[in-house]
Amino acid sequence: MRDAAAQIIYLKDYRPVPITVHHVELTFHLSPNATKVQTTLHCARQSEGPMVLNGEGLKLLSLTVDGSEHPYDHDDKSLTLDPKQPRFTLETLVEIDPQSNTALDGLYMSNGMYCTQCEAEGFRKITYMLDRPDVMATYRVRIESDQPVLLSNGNPAAQGPGWADWDDPHPKPTYLFALVAGDLRPTSEVYTTSEQKNVTLNIWVRPGDEGKTAYAMDALKRSMRWDEEIYGRTYDLDVFNIVAVDDFNMGAMENKGLNIFNSKYVLASPETATDQDYAAIESIVAHEYFHNWTGNRITCRDWFQLCLKEGLTVFRDQQFSADMRSAPVQRIKDVLALRSRQFREDAGPLAHPVRPESFVEINNFYTATVYEKGAEVIAMLRHLVGPKGYRRALSLYFDRHDGQACTIEDWLQVFEDACGRDLTQFKRWYTQAGTPRVSVSVEDKNSQIQLTFRQKTPPTPGQTEKAPYVIPILYGLLSEDGQDLVGTQLLEMTSEQTTVTHNVAGPVVPSILRGFSAPVILDIAQSDADKRLLLAHDTDPFNRWEAARSLAKSQILATMYEDKAPDAQWLEALRTLTTTTTLDPAFRALCLALPAQDDLAQTIVDAGNVPDPDEIYRARQSIFEALGLALGPELRMQIDALQTPGPYTPDAKDAGKRALKNTCLRLLAPHDGTLVKTAFESANNMTDQIASFAALLSIGDKDAAQRFEAQWGHDRLVMDKWFMLQITEAKPPQAVPLALDLTKHLAFEPENPNRFRAVIGGLISNPAGFHTASGAGYRFLADWLLWLDPKNPQTAARMSTAFETWRRYDPDRQGLMQEAMQRMQASPTLSDNLNEMLTRMLDGTEP
Ligand code: ARG
Ligand code: ZN
Repeated sequence: MRDAAAQIIYLKDYRPVPITVHHVELTFHLSPNATKVQTTLHCARQSEGPMVLNGEGLKLLSLTVDGSEHPYDHDDKSLTLDPKQPRFTLETLVEIDPQSNTALDGLYMSNGMYCTQCEAEGFRKITYMLDRPDVMATYRVRIESDQPVLLSNGNPAAQGPGWADWDDPHPKPTYLFALVAGDLRPTSEVYTTSEQKNVTLNIWVRPGDEGKTAYAMDALKRSMRWDEEIYGRTYDLDVFNIVAVDDFNMGAMENKGLNIFNSKYVLASPETATDQDYAAIESIVAHEYFHNWTGNRITCRDWFQLCLKEGLTVFRDQQFSADMRSAPVQRIKDVLALRSRQFREDAGPLAHPVRPESFVEINNFYTATVYEKGAEVIAMLRHLVGPKGYRRALSLYFDRHDGQACTIEDWLQVFEDACGRDLTQFKRWYTQAGTPRVSVSVEDKNSQIQLTFRQKTPPTPGQTEKAPYVIPILYGLLSEDGQDLVGTQLLEMTSEQTTVTHNVAGPVVPSILRGFSAPVILDIAQSDADKRLLLAHDTDPFNRWEAARSLAKSQILATMYEDKAPDAQWLEALRTLTTTTTLDPAFRALCLALPAQDDLAQTIVDAGNVPDPDEIYRARQSIFEALGLALGPELRMQIDALQTPGPYTPDAKDAGKRALKNTCLRLLAPHDGTLVKTAFESANNMTDQIASFAALLSIGDKDAAQRFEAQWGHDRLVMDKWFMLQITEAKPPQAVPLALDLTKHLAFEPENPNRFRAVIGGLISNPAGFHTASGAGYRFLADWLLWLDPKNPQTAARMSTAFETWRRYDPDRQGLMQEAMQRMQASPTLSDNLNEMLTRMLDGTEP
C-alpha cells in the first residue's frame, strides 16, 4: 500500500493569495533531457502572509529576489518565501526533463516535438509559480531551440535564428500557458473580424498531414463568425494558432491564442475520416475557440468552479452544432451522450455535484457531470428566463466579469440581475448530485385532464437528503388521432409534487419533457399504442425519437424476460418510419438504432433488477436480426435511394444520408453478407468503409481485418479505428482473447493514449465481452491500468471508470470487479489519481 495519504482540497477553504503575480517573463532553453527555464515573476503584495509557489519535479538551480539572494523553504511540491517589499521580482532558474515526461502533463515530447498541457496543474511541472486560476498575469516568452517552428501564446513579438519571442497582453492564469516547438507545417488563412481586424489563422501539423486541415480551418472560421453573430464576441489577438499533436490525454486545449489538439480532432480527409470524425472536429474546434471568451477572458476563481467555463462552453458548442446541422438530431445525440455517460456517473459511486465541494486530484473531475450536466443546467436556465433573458444575462456577464476569475455565484447573480429572478432554489442543480426521477400520472375526468408530476432524487455518496429542484418541463397533449390538443407548455416545477389541469376532453396522449427540457429520468406509464402514436405524430422531434427508443427497449426486454417475438405493430411502425422520405434521414437513422447494451443495463437497474450482460446482448441481437429480416425490402430500397452521388462532402445533409444507408446495411448484414462485402469493396470514403468493415466483423468475416490493415497500416488514426472496431464488434466470448492478441500486435503502442483507448477502451465498449463471467475482462483492464498508471496517471484514472457500475451486477461479477480494483489499490506505485478513483468506487465515499 501507498504511504502518505493524499491531501483533500475543499471549496470552503478557498483563500486569495497574499502575494500575486501580474507579469511573467519566461525563457526556455529547450533540450530533450535538460530544458532550462528562466522565470521572472513580477509580484505584488495584497495582504499578510508568505508566498507559496507550486513546483513539482523541478531542479532549482538559482533563485533571487530583486536581483539578490533571498531565503526560501523548499520541498518537492512547493517553494515558500516571504519578501517584505510591496512589489518585487522573483527570478528562478530550473531544469526539467521533457523527454522523460510520459504523463503528458506539463512540457513533454511527442514525435520529437515539444508541447505542453497545463490544465489543470501542469504549469508547476515547468517552473515555480502560483499555479492557480485566480492569479492572472501577462506573459512575455522567449523560446530558444533549433526546432524550426517555435510557438507560444499571444502575438509574435520578435524572432531570429534559433529563437522566438511571444507577447500575450491578455492577463491569463497558468493553465492557459502553452509552448510548441517542432517541425510543423502551417495551413494559413486571414480572417477579418466584424470589427474589421485581420487575424492570421494557422493550423500546424506534421509534414505530410497538410492535406488534412481544410475542414478544421473551415470549422474555425464558422465558429468565429458564429460567436460574433450570436454572442457578440470577437477575437482579440493578431494570430490564432492550432497545433495537432499525436500524444494527447484528452480532446483539445484552449490555451490563449495557441490551441493544442489531439490530432484525431484536427486531421480529416474523406478517405481517412468518418462523418462522425468530421462532426467531432467541428464541435471541438468550436468548443476550444469559444473558450476564448468563456474560460479565458472570464476564467474560474478555483477548480471547483470548472463548470463555469466547461458547462457554458459545451452549451455553446452544442448550440453551434445545432445551428450548423440539424437542431433535433443534434439534441438527440447530445442526450444520448448525456444518458450514457452522465446518468451512469450520477447513478454510481462517482456521483458528484456539477460544482463539487472537495477533491484529491482535480484531473479526476473533468467529468460528464461537470461538462455535460453543466451544459444541461444552462439549457434549463435558458428555458426559465427565455432566449431574450438569456441574451441579456450573457451580455451582462461579459460586461461585468471580463478579465476576472469568477464563481458560480457570480454567474447566477448575473441572471438574477438581468432577469429579476430569484435563483436560490435553482442553484441546487450545482450543489446536489444525482439524477432526479420525475413521474407523471394522468387523470381524465369531467372534460378535464389533470397531470400530476412528482420529483424524487435518490441519495448519492455524501448526500442522503435531496431538496426539490426547479425543473422546467416542456409538454403537450395529443388527441388519440394524433392532433395537437394542447401545444407546448412550460411547467416550472418547484415542489415535490405539482398538478396542472387542462380543459380538454380526453382521451389524450401526453408528450412530456419535450426537447428533453431537463436532465431527469422520466417515469410515465404509457401504452405501446400511445408510444407509436407519438412516434408517428408528435410535433416534437425529440419525443418522436424518444418514443421509438422506448418501444425498442420494451421489445428487447420482452424478448429477454418473456421470450417474446417482436411485436408486429412495432415492426410496422418502424417500416413506416424508414420509408417516410419527408423525414430527415439522420433522424430516421437515430430512430432505427437500437438502444445500446449499457443503456439497457441501466434501464434494468432503474427498474430494480440485476442486469445480465449476456442476456442483454442476446436479446438485443435477436431483436436486431428480427428487425433486419422483417424490414428487408424497405431497407434495401433505402440503400438504393440514399446514394450520395458526386464527390464526398462532410455536410450534415450527405452525412445524414450515409448514416441511414449504413444503418440499413448494418441491419441487413446478418441476412446478406454479400451485400456488405460489396459495400466494403466499393466504399470510396471512410464513413462507408468503416460502416461496412464493422458490419463484416459483426458477421464474423475472416479477411476484412487483414485487408483493412494492408490498406491503412501506415495511418495512425485509421489504425486506431481498426484496433477498436475488431474488439467492439467481436462476439462476447472472443472479445478478451482478441484484445489480448491485439496487445501483442507490433503497432500496439500503449504509451499513445489514442491507441490505449482504442484497445483497452475497445474492450470496455463491448459490454458483454468486458463482463464475461470468468472475470477475464476485469483482469485484463486491471493489468493494463497497472501498467499505465505509473506512466500516465490521468489516462489510467479516467479509464478506471469502467468499474463505476460494479454494484449493478450479480454477486459473482461484483466480487471479481472488487478483486480487480483491490489488486490495483495494493500497487506500491499507485498514483493519487487512480487511488482517488478506486477509493471512491470501492467505498462510495463522497468526492
Ligand atoms: N479545457 C479542456 C477542454 O475542455 C480540457 C482540459 C482537460 N484537462 C484535464 N486535465 N483533464 O477543452
Ligand atoms: Zn472545455
